[in-house]
Amino acid sequence: MTAFDHLERTRLVFGTGRIHKVGGFARELGFRRTLIVADSGMERAGHVMTVLSALAGEGIESTPWSQFDANPDSRMVERGREFAEKLGVDSIIGLGGGSSMDCAKAINFVLTNGGRIQDYWGYGKTTKPLLPMIGIPATTGTGSEAQSHALISDAETHVKMAIGDARAAFAVAILDPSVAATQPPAVRATAGYDAISHAVETLVTTKRNAVSQCYSREAWRLLERSFERLLADGNDLNALADMQMGSWFAGAAIEASMLGATHALANPLTATYGITHGQAIAVMLPHVVGWNAMAEYRELHADLPGRLRELAAAAGLRGSLRALGVEEGRLEELSLAAAQQWTGKFNPRPFDAASALELYRCAY
Ligand SMILES: [Fe+2]
Repeated sequence: MTAFDHLERTRLVFGTGRIHKVGGFARELGFRRTLIVADSGMERAGHVMTVLSALAGEGIESTPWSQFDANPDSRMVERGREFAEKLGVDSIIGLGGGSSMDCAKAINFVLTNGGRIQDYWGYGKTTKPLLPMIGIPATTGTGSEAQSHALISDAETHVKMAIGDARAAFAVAILDPSVAATQPPAVRATAGYDAISHAVETLVTTKRNAVSQCYSREAWRLLERSFERLLADGNDLNALADMQMGSWFAGAAIEASMLGATHALANPLTATYGITHGQAIAVMLPHVVGWNAMAEYRELHADLPGRLRELAAAAGLRGSLRALGVEEGRLEELSLAAAQQWTGKFNPRPFDAASALELYRCAY
């Protein structure tokens, strides 16, 4: 078993209605003027107003900002930095899906440490402390609230950069199932499947350890038993609670053990064809599991690739690259891009451009 050094950097608060307590946590952390990074859906759902009034109740000034989209890039981060600088904020709240939380972290890097977000690509590149942050996930998927990484695209090259630093962990993460009840059906499907892949991939990475594997197994147990129930009823609070905790466990597993070939193969599909992350994952994951053929997969399910296909079908996700409009003539080019992805390095079976091509062909 691998040697490791494990620390949970984020205080985890779970429970229905806990979003209303955000003012108290902010006060404890010394927030006075706060930037709320929340995608536009959060305002429509009423969550921005909930956070604004909870903070106001503690005498904390706050301003929402939503000028970014589902795949945040370096330009959006720069706009957010300018906005936050003018306000003179001393704290940040990320409210929403992975894009909101990643954007909150990324703005924090450049606001406190200067330069461009590209300067922080990799891990541990900051020299100064970041502003304290609270994360409130509103989708059941990415697990960004459990991680010190942000995924930001370079606006010029479209390369997805993983930007990480121990200082970028949220001080508090609030998991409130009622907040996730407002996620749209398509997000329920793609974000949920993404979380499932995080559980499956982290279980077998070369960096896996005793703690991360424990998280991966628990993530799978919760996600597998509740994904279909949540697809059937987006307001089922028990299913939401399972999915939310499952996503957190899977996110915490990534923090400890990284990801594998599935994410390496999915990223070029998103960059080239704009295929949603969860859909790109769904088309590749069963093939990667079959190709890796790790003994640990049996702990999850007797026929894991079969169960993964069943879950993707239940979510209405497509099962082949052809059905997604990917051109067969571009598979080699996509394979070269997949082999460059950082996460592929942690796949248990050595993964290169030739393996990527083999897997894309299987999935075609
Ligand atoms: Fe993912």
